Amino acid sequence: MRIACIGGGPAGLYFALLMKKMNPAHAVRVIERNRPYDTFGWGVVFSDATMQNMRGCDPETAAAIESAFNHWDDIEVVIKGRRMRTTGHGFVGIGRRRLLNILQARCEALGVELVFEREVESDAELPDADLIIAADGVNSNIRQRYEDVFRPDMQLRPNRFIWLGTKKRFEAFTFDFRKTEHGWFQAHIYGFDADTSTFIVETTEETFNAHGLGAADQDQSVAFCEALFAETLAGARLETNARHLRGSAWLNFSRLICGHWHHFNGRSHVALMGDAAHTAHFAIGAGTKLAFEDAIELAAQFARLGDRPESIPAALAAYEEIRRVEVARIQNAARNAMEWFEVVGSRYADQLAPEQFMYSLLTRSQRISHENLRLRDKAWLEGYERWFARRLGVETPDGAAIPPMFTPLQIREVQLQNRIVVSPMAMYSAFEGVPDDFHMVHLGARALGGAGLVFGEMTCVSPEARITPGCLGLWNGAQAKAWKRIVDFVHAGSSAKIGLQLGHAGRKGSTRRAWEGMDQPLVEGGWPLISASALPYLPDGQLPRAMDRADMDKVREDFLHATRLAVEIGFDLIELHAAHGYLLSSFLSPLTNRRSDDYGGAHANRARFPLEIFRAMRAIWPPAKPLFVRLSCHDWTEGGNTPDDAAIFAGMFKEAGADLIDCSSGQVSKEEAPVYGRLFQTPFSDKIRNEVGISTIAVGAISEADHANSIIAAGRADLCALARPHLADPAWTLHEAARIGLKTIPWPKQYLSGKAAYENNLARAASGPATR
Ligand SMILES: Cc1cc2nc3c(=O)[nH]c(=O)nc-3n(C[C@H](O)[C@H](O)[C@H](O)COP(=O)(O)OP(=O)(O)OC[C@H]3O[C@@H](n4cnc5c(N)ncnc54)[C@H](O)[C@@H]3O)c2cc1C
Ligand SMILES: Cc1cc2nc3c(=O)[nH]c(=O)nc-3n(C[C@H](O)[C@H](O)[C@H](O)COP(=O)(O)O)c2cc1C
Repeated sequence: MRIACIGGGPAGLYFALLMKKMNPAHAVRVIERNRPYDTFGWGVVFSDATMQNMRGCDPETAAAIESAFNHWDDIEVVIKGRRMRTTGHGFVGIGRRRLLNILQARCEALGVELVFEREVESDAELPDADLIIAADGVNSNIRQRYEDVFRPDMQLRPNRFIWLGTKKRFEAFTFDFRKTEHGWFQAHIYGFDADTSTFIVETTEETFNAHGLGAADQDQSVAFCEALFAETLAGARLETNARHLRGSAWLNFSRLICGHWHHFNGRSHVALMGDAAHTAHFAIGAGTKLAFEDAIELAAQFARLGDRPESIPAALAAYEEIRRVEVARIQNAARNAMEWFEVVGSRYADQLAPEQFMYSLLTRSQRISHENLRLRDKAWLEGYERWFARRLGVETPDGAAIPPMFTPLQIREVQLQNRIVVSPMAMYSAFEGVPDDFHMVHLGARALGGAGLVFGEMTCVSPEARITPGCLGLWNGAQAKAWKRIVDFVHAGSSAKIGLQLGHAGRKGSTRRAWEGMDQPLVEGGWPLISASALPYLPDGQLPRAMDRADMDKVREDFLHATRLAVEIGFDLIELHAAHGYLLSSFLSPLTNRRSDDYGGAHANRARFPLEIFRAMRAIWPPAKPLFVRLSCHDWTEGGNTPDDAAIFAGMFKEAGADLIDCSSGQVSKEEAPVYGRLFQTPFSDKIRNEVGISTIAVGAISEADHANSIIAAGRADLCALARPHLADPAWTLHEAARIGLKTIPWPKQYLSGKAAYENNLARAASGPATR
């Protein structure tokens, strides 16, 4: 095969040498516009796992790289006068120049033709190649030329960064945060040889502009960074080697995803590789890793399918299919980490104590969890757990650490014994809104199951406020009496608290029970609907009436009546349901609120009626007891509310006296396109908690103690609610405690004799198959 690689970066060089090594008869060329040994940038980092992969492909290159590596385990975080360190993180760093030299030398040894100082303008310059690898970096000419085929989606991120170096050895990967009169700057610092370190300085566009850095030349920028990080530099100088960049050398990161990675130009097959195909932010340091792994995968496909020109289409198709998945996974993690650094100044640096700030930083990609941290540095993690508990006034008799989800939380005068919540779940099993034996058993079992707080399902404030005829209600004495029996049982028989979720279905009412047709209108026995505007939920669904002031007065009185009954019943707290497209949510979302009066339009108008209800309830609900609000923090629909809107509403409810925002999302519009995934709504909770300064519940695809511990420990939420896991397992909390080896959590006294056996069985199963 005749192979031409445009670009002599890690991707082009490594692919070239792998193919030449596979078959010396291949004619392989790398064409690079720079001179040999001439490159920008300082050191790059990658993980032990990538190295392992490379050892299997070409031991010679791997050995040369390993002998030039700087390996380190520690991460140090510097903020607000504190310098904190943790170990066990396993990075390797190498100078970019050194890395390329090793690859170039290996290419030469294998007989790859290296052409330097030649700029390739177009693939048409290489007519005799069977395969052209466009490894020409993030600004790839070739990708641009076939934009229609490759469909690049390039997003310029808001932060500014400058890639500097320093002749100073850093023993740890150091993150240094400094505040100026205009905002926060952070430095990402890592050594890559005996005496040189990469020093990337990053800030927001706003802070960058406020300091006039757009007008600063490279020397002035270097001087600015030297002064800002003087304490950490301890006399060392910063240097730039990006003199080829015109202007200030402060860049914005470009996030790149391509719709397609290969193309036949009529003579040759052209494939994107490395940064030309995708980028991953330096916050996760994976760009070089991805470039190498692309090269490894394509070479592996040729090894599998035959390294002949006829195999090229199939090899390229398989390469793209396999790499696309892995790249998306890394890009997701990189996105979380990148976004963390974009908001660190507005969300975490001022708000969080240094200890918690460090935890949040370490778990920024959401790929490293609480238990990963324990594996990496047990002593540090247990120290953090003790700090977390002590801050809440919790002391264990023997000083043992407590996982964060098992620490108590006090809100007003209500104390929850731990951070796990049974999320509200409609059971559609009531007759005339009255809870019966099913609800007693259902809620009772979950209260005995160890959660700190158990919510009843959405409980409707009038017959017309119900979603279905099977929904629970609280508008009459029979319902109040039946509820009291459940609440009294939970209080007397368990250590859980019990909350009432009060709601009104609005335009989503008068439908069948979930298992008879979710959201489908009732065939008979339906009732008239009201909503913010006269818009049906389903295109052919029942049309609601737009509420007038008299309707609003009636609904407010219904909520107040239910609240008075809740006081008598003795619920520990109430959550006002203003999410999921129900009545109050229909006012908040611009998709469902098209009103032109005082209750539509701007945020304050859309929130006016929900806030009126909330304030009226707060005025009669006992001051000792909390009042929560559930919001849809993202409509997942073009033109709908986003997390920014949710933060505005959260601020309004906070001002009206809300104690906590339960951060859900969606179900407002049938057009929605939610992006599901593990902990997918937790970022909304994180944002609202730390930007608005109010307690939050994170909910949605939280399924393990490890998830809950990570969320609580990082300050992304104060409580974690789980719905579906509690349908599968009423004693989820007790079982998860046993699974992570925590024996001190109390079981109900009636069940105690089952505890030790359960824990022992789990421990035995975890230690491997039984031997005879
Ligand atoms: C601040 C910063 C820090 C980073 N830190 C890390 C890190 O710690 N770890 C990590 O893994 N990655 C890091 N990266 C990313 C890493 O540099 C890239 O992801 C990686 O180099 C990609 O390799 P590549 O071969 O695809 O592209 P590149 O390394 O960009 O190589 C492309 C090559 O093509 C050449 N070229 C371009 N156009 C032409 C043309 N028309 N004709 C001829 N030659 C051409 C260029 O001169 C260049 O040599 C960082 C990036 C930045 C910006
Ligand atoms: C069967 C079922 C019924 C639900 N009913 C309600 C409800 O009454 N009120 C509410 O706010 N959310 C309701 N939800 C949403 C859950 O409270 C929760 O937000 C959602 O299921 C995501 O959490 P999970 O991933 O742990 O299931 C319900 C969810 C399920 C599965």
